[in-house]
Order: sequence, then C-alpha cells, then structure tokens
Amino acid sequence: MASGTERRFSWRGRPTTARDGETILEALAHDGLPSVVRSPRYHRPRGPLCGVGQCTGCLVRVNGRPNVRACRQVVASGDVVENGNAWPSPRFDLLGVLDTAFPSGIDTLHGFRRPAFLTGLYQRVVRRLSGYSGPPSPEAARALASAPDVRTATTVIVGAGPAGRAAARALVDAGERPLVVDRGLRVPEVPGAELLARSTATFLPPPSADGGWAFSLVGFTEPARGFAIRARRVIVATGGYDAALWFGGADRPGVVTADGALALTPAPGAGPLRRAVVFGGGDRAATTIDRLHESVVAVVAPGEIRPEVVRRASDLGVPLYPRTLLRSVTGRRRVRSVRLESRGGGAPFHVECDSVVLAHRRLPHPQLFFQAGARMRWRGGAGAYFPELTDAGATSVPGLFAAGTVAGVVGDDVATSGERAAKAALGAPFDGPAPRWIPADGPAELEGYYRELLGGPRPGRWVACPCEDVLVAEIEEAHRAGYRGVEVVKRYTGVGTGLCQGRYCLPETLLTLARLEGRTPPEVGYITQRPPVHPTPLAALAALREEFAGEPAP
Ligand code: FES
Repeated sequence: MASGTERRFSWRGRPTTARDGETILEALAHDGLPSVVRSPRYHRPRGPLCGVGQCTGCLVRVNGRPNVRACRQVVASGDVVENGNAWPSPRFDLLGVLDTAFPSGIDTLHGFRRPAFLTGLYQRVVRRLSGYSGPPSPEAARALASAPDVRTATTVIVGAGPAGRAAARALVDAGERPLVVDRGLRVPEVPGAELLARSTATFLPPPSADGGWAFSLVGFTEPARGFAIRARRVIVATGGYDAALWFGGADRPGVVTADGALALTPAPGAGPLRRAVVFGGGDRAATTIDRLHESVVAVVAPGEIRPEVVRRASDLGVPLYPRTLLRSVTGRRRVRSVRLESRGGGAPFHVECDSVVLAHRRLPHPQLFFQAGARMRWRGGAGAYFPELTDAGATSVPGLFAAGTVAGVVGDDVATSGERAAKAALGAPFDGPAPRWIPADGPAELEGYYRELLGGPRPGRWVACPCEDVLVAEIEEAHRAGYRGVEVVKRYTGVGTGLCQGRYCLPETLLTLARLEGRTPPEVGYITQRPPVHPTPLAALAALREEFAGEPAP
C-alpha cells in the first residue's frame, strides 16, 4: 500500500516520483490516465484496460527488462522506465505513417517469410514494427535468473479472494496448513496458512494415476522465480474479471474495465477518471459507482438497470440510459465522448466524458480446469464455461475442487462456497444452504445486443483483439471464407493469440461466431486451452526444467 515516502524514477527520460508502494501505473496516473503503449499493427495509442495484470495496455520496459506490466510493478528508487517501440511517444508514434501506406496494416503474421535467407532481417523489421519491446538487456536477463521453488502441500489453494480465503480458514480449523497461491501484490495473510504472494499458477496438468502427490502445479513468483508445487488436493478459486466490449474505438486510452477503474481509484472520487460513463446495470456497476462517486457522468446499460444502481445514480443526479447501444467513442488519442443509441432504432446522441468503465459482465478464469481435464459446462447466464460440479464443489477430476466465482456461484454464496469446497476436500459434511449458481440456460444478454450493434453502421476500424490488432471485420471475413468454430477462426485470424491469452476477445468472438453460424455458443466450441495461463518468463521455466530432471516419484 502506498505511504507518504517518495521514490524517484525516470519515465521516458523524465524524472518522476511515486509514493512508496505504488506501482508504475499508479504513479504515472497522478496526472491522468497515461497512454504507455501503441498497438502492434495499426500504431494506435493504447492505455491501461484492466489495471490488474491481464491485458497488454500498460507494457513498459523497466531497467532493460521488456514487456513489464506497469500495473504490477512497484516502483523502486532509480528505476528507468521506458515505453516500447513507439517513437517519439505512444501518443504520437511516427511509425503511424505506415497506417496511411498500408491501410489494412502490415501482415507480419503471414508475410515476411520468403526468401528464407532474409529471415534474420525480416525478424528485425517485424520486431521493430510489432510495437512490443526488444529483448532484455544482458544485465536484465542475468538479474532474472533465480533458483526454483519446489514445495509440497497437502492442499494448495489457487486464489486468495473471499472464496479462497474461506477455504483456507476452514482447512486451518481442521488442523491443516494449506498453501495459498495468489497473484496479488497486496494479499493479507490467512493465519495458519502458508502464502505464496505475487505468484501466478500457469499450468495444472491432469493428476497422475499413482496417488500420493497427485498434482504438480507450476508457475512463477514475480519477477521470474519458477515454482512447482506437489499437492494431494487443489482448490481453484481464481475468481473472475470484467469483460471487454466491442464498439468503435473500444481500444482507445480511457476505456477501462471495472477492475481497472477500481484499481486506479484508491478512494471514492480520487483517481485519474474524472468524467466516467459506466456501462452496466448490475452489481458491478453499483460497486463502480460507489467508488468513482461524483466522477460518474452517466450510466448506460445493454438491458434493464437494477434498482440499486438506479438509486445510487439518482442520489448523484447521474442520468441513466437503459437498453442502449454503445456505438463508439470519439477522440483520436483518448476518449472525448460516447455515441449512444437507444435499442430498437433510436436517434444517436453523445455524452461527453473522459473514460468509459465496462462493468456489464464478469467472467471466470477457468483455464486450470481445462488443463487438468475437468468436464466443463456452458452457463448461458454468464456466457462462459465453468467446471461441472457437485453441490459440494467437487469437479470431475478426483482431488480437484472449485470455489467462488470461477465455480459459477453468485452473490454472498461466493465465500461460503470456499468453506464448502474445503469440507469436500476433507471429506467432511457441510450443512449450509445449497449455493446459488449462475443460470445454466438462457442466452447471455449480449447475444441480442451484438446482433443489433454489429448489424448497424461501423465506421472506422473496430478492434476485436487489442493484443494483436485483429479487427471485428476480419473475424466476419473468416466466416465468409468458410472457417467455422472458435479454434479454427483463432488460427486463421490470430484472435486470442496475444498476451492476454484471449481473455478480452474470445468471449465476444464466441458470441459473434454463434450468431454468424446460427449455432449456440457451446456448439461453436472453444479454443484448446494450452499452458501457460499467463505469460511466463522463460527464465522461470528453464530453471524448473533442471529441477524436475530425475525427480523421484512421490
Ligand atoms: S492495465 Fe496493466 S495489464 Fe492491464
């Protein structure tokens, strides 16, 4: 947590200060939401989207180390922080002239391959054009090398949110010392449990058949210390995140998810977002309004707006726009206004603002279940896949349990689902009420919304996948060319292949393909979930490889 002491660092050569404990992004946001990267293909300025280490909107180079997420790196005195390839700055990138010469973007995915003897030259050019930073300096690469961390635990819990912490407390009460792994920068301890903070679990293979330490969970502790944990049981409580939304200019600096708005606003009304349009009409919108408070200028929702949101907005005198399409944002370099339209064909109108906060849809992080081979089911109420569970929270994989949002539980039952999963792991009965699940049936609210939105005029480039600059039009073109299903369209267009691992584009792609193919989302399928769940430093994996060599079976 930030304190009063100052740290001095440099940002793009200029002396800058941060309060002790602040991340680079928090420090740069003192003067408003910064634009720190440009997009890889179209040279569009980009800003932070998620604020919690999931997107590619805040990648910087720190002390020679490339692609560091500014929202996850706490400032140290003397840090030298630079942007990636944009020159002279991400907001005014002169390489943007290429946009004029190549209006469809330079196809670095399929081009630049022949003749083969020019491969080295091509790679240098592509790297320069790609918008990501160059390789690490030799000093930075050396500094990353560290011995791996290999541990054992009877039960490992992935995620220290309300559900994960409740599970840990229940196991401690039963006399266990569970190991809790969490990505958070500021995670409070659970008394009696072991905590591995700033640690990202990236790979959970199916359990081995020989019992004992059935699971091997692999990941890294920031910046790059690999870990491998042998465990008898795993409780996954990885929670959820706020989804992106497709509209014109959705990749502009100033468009943030509710996760990002909350992370950047430490106290009500105190943050870089001064005139925010909140998109969403449910619980998450209510939470966002409470935090942004008088910085909210309008609430827009794809459907109806719930009474608690109406009440909060009315208390602040904020106008409400239920059943409204968010067509686009204006502003070349950052958001200046939103263009809205009532659903069913209303006249377009504008609301002036400096930011759009996406608080309409919360999705789970289910990747570890896919990797472990758990049976998954589509829950139309959320428009996402969740593990198939017993009421107790057990998956189809023996020894693997789910708790909280990622299990498909809603409301106050998130915390009790942690206790329930812990009891299931212990084989003990739990006599609380059955949890409330996200409805399994029914179309997600956005299916009809996108049908209406994408059927209308769409001037300019609509970016579907900000990491790789894949356009909505390219996904539609893939469909016209005969490609079917998410996995195939992903391979053809590159959608979902960027550093966010598809979190911010594949859910929308799935809904769009379902509409185009005239099938339900589960019929359209999903991508094969391959490790890592999060981008993992090669230094961490390389060290683990040696550690595993010759490891005796438990
Ligand atoms: S804003 Fe830092 S990763 Fe998304």
